[in-house]
Amino acid sequence: MKDKAFSDKQQHKIDHLRRSYELGSLDEEQVSSSPFKQFEDWFKQAQELNLSEPNAMVIATVDESGHPNTRTVLLKKYDETGFVFFTNYGSQKAKEIEANPNVSLQFLWLDIERQVKIQGRVEKIAKKESMDYFFSRPKGSQLGAWVSEQSKVVSSRSVLMNQFAKLKQQFKDGSIEFPDFWGGYRVVPHYFEFWQGGKDRIHDRIVYQEEDSKWLIKRLAP
Ligand SMILES: Cc1cc2nc3c(=O)[nH]c(=O)nc-3n(C[C@H](O)[C@H](O)[C@H](O)COP(=O)(O)O)c2cc1C
Repeated sequence: MKDKAFSDKQQHKIDHLRRSYELGSLDEEQVSSSPFKQFEDWFKQAQELNLSEPNAMVIATVDESGHPNTRTVLLKKYDETGFVFFTNYGSQKAKEIEANPNVSLQFLWLDIERQVKIQGRVEKIAKKESMDYFFSRPKGSQLGAWVSEQSKVVSSRSVLMNQFAKLKQQFKDGSIEFPDFWGGYRVVPHYFEFWQGGKDRIHDRIVYQEEDSKWLIKRLAP
């Protein structure tokens, strides 16, 4: 009974949340013929507007039994070859990617009423490319990569902090070694969707689908 009262109250608190999206529009006659260029235009705008973490993207994978899984990572590089992020190659997401390289990325830029979906296949980037990025990171982040056996169960935070202190001591007189279990993945896209919120829920959805090395542009109903 108590639980019911709580959920009713919660419902009451959120069902009035409603915002009209009126900031912009997207027209299939005006978008770039290249989805990479269109992404660059939008990404630059998100950056120029100082949105918080505009390079944060949710990456969806599926595990071997077909169960979906999502988490946020940071986009660190993009060009016509794909979208690169860095992670632990022993993590849950890495295991899922190795078993099934089909993923979906989602950028959500709510302040400008936009989202972008990118579907593609993942490949590991070259070790040299990962090393270049690793050594460009602050030392604390480099050590952090060493400390974390990402996605494994850990008994307490202090275990991690002790490990961090130990590694700091170990690497104090020189550069930190490159961890072979860490590096980048590139998502090579075959599908993009650019979504711009519209008035009265008539949103614009423009998609790019790769066919015979060409990008076909279509509009989807919102
Ligand atoms: C804003 C934000 C950025 C993140 N960036 C990364 C990242 O670039 N790489 C990464 O491995 N984890 C990143 N994380 C942590 C992941 O969301 C996730 O917790 C971690 O990678 C473990 O995921 P997994 O167990 O599914 O492999 C980020 C989390 C947030 C909230």
